Amino acid sequence: MSEKRDGFGSKLGVIAAAAGSAVGLGNIYRFPCLAGENGGGAFLLIYVAIVLCLGIPIMMAEFYIGRRGGKNPVGSIKSLAPKTHWNLIGYIGILAAFVVLAFYSTVSGWTLEYIYKAATNFFAGKDIATIEQGFTDFHNNPFRPFLWQFVFMGFTAFIIFKGVKDGVEKYTKILMPALFVILIVLCFKSLTMSGAKEGLKFLFKPDFSKVDGTVLLAALGQAFFSLSVGMGALITYGSYISKKDNLTTTSLSVVAADTLVAVLAGIIIFPAAFTFGIQPEAGAGLAFNTLPMIFNKMTGGYFFCIIFFILLSIAALTSTISLLEVIVAFLSEEHGIKRNTATWIGTLVSLFLGVLCTLSLRKGSVLAFGNMTFFDFMDKFSANFLLPIGALFIVIFVAWKMGKESFYDEITNQNTLKVSVKKFIYFIIKFVAPIVILAIFVNQLI
Ligand code: PHE
Repeated sequence: MSEKRDGFGSKLGVIAAAAGSAVGLGNIYRFPCLAGENGGGAFLLIYVAIVLCLGIPIMMAEFYIGRRGGKNPVGSIKSLAPKTHWNLIGYIGILAAFVVLAFYSTVSGWTLEYIYKAATNFFAGKDIATIEQGFTDFHNNPFRPFLWQFVFMGFTAFIIFKGVKDGVEKYTKILMPALFVILIVLCFKSLTMSGAKEGLKFLFKPDFSKVDGTVLLAALGQAFFSLSVGMGALITYGSYISKKDNLTTTSLSVVAADTLVAVLAGIIIFPAAFTFGIQPEAGAGLAFNTLPMIFNKMTGGYFFCIIFFILLSIAALTSTISLLEVIVAFLSEEHGIKRNTATWIGTLVSLFLGVLCTLSLRKGSVLAFGNMTFFDFMDKFSANFLLPIGALFIVIFVAWKMGKESFYDEITNQNTLKVSVKKFIYFIIKFVAPIVILAIFVNQLI
């Protein structure tokens, strides 16, 4: 390949793209859903602890591999540890990208349906039962969920066709700040509702009697899922980061933005859920049913509702592009497939799996086994298994194979930056992260 490799053009662009990958449905749809199912406050506390202690170091480990290796997850590891089997870690990441993209594209499709519903004033004056019924009816519609899923993946492919700088970077830089602003507005609204006190109590008051191995694993999985770590999305983005950028502050900013959005989403959703009598453990519908009710009660709710779902779909889009980019970079760099063809392949395969996820949510679907739909399976298999395993091997690779000198050299930009926390970060990567991840896994197995 003689042509110059595409990459991010500015520091802000890197942060926007990485934060764009991190902030998504994981924060606004999946986080409240899991917090609700796992007892609220205690889940939040464990989640935040994992994000702060492990999230930043693991993210740095991924950026390190990507920038130093200069390629997709498989290629980067191959170039750092040639003629070894460490690159298998990269393959776990590619698999995870397909699995996540599959069920993610289903939920992303919902965001488009909800833009349509909002624009056609479907929610106005309806009570919560009708809105919940609308959500169920939509899953059982023979046509619409698939239509939106296809449209959504079409947008994703379109941006990937355009490349990193003129696609990924250009769009995320404008869209992420807009999402932030509207979340803050919604927060204020939700806090003035009658269920605010109860909702906040649920979210912030930890009840440790609810904590068991399942809750720990769910929090671990959600932390990795939300930060986009453990599967090579950030290795791939790392490979587009300029040698001059500061990996430590970039990671800090991304983690801070991601955590803030999750907490904001919780502050919006739980007070409103209690106000309208929605059970916090309502599952997938929690965000989709609660939010329209808040808009119903707001002046200008009609417009806010449309804007909100547009931004939610954009937040999802900046995540799906990071997932598809992993696959495309892998296919084009490792198998010499043209970028455009690789984009087609990645899109079609993940759509195929995604359609199975969508089908599994229909009433009486053969793709549901007992309580577990294929959709749930893909969700749990990626977040609670592939990402933690991926993260475990990533930290082991960085600390136990590559070692301290190489890591320090990269994160200090060849000793031109002072990173005072580097020893601490390395200690976490080498000892704390592997032990904690393993402990949570083993605990769950027992
Ligand atoms: N972090 C994204 C979210 O929270 C999902 C994601 C996971 C994206 C893994 C890329 C890789 O919505």
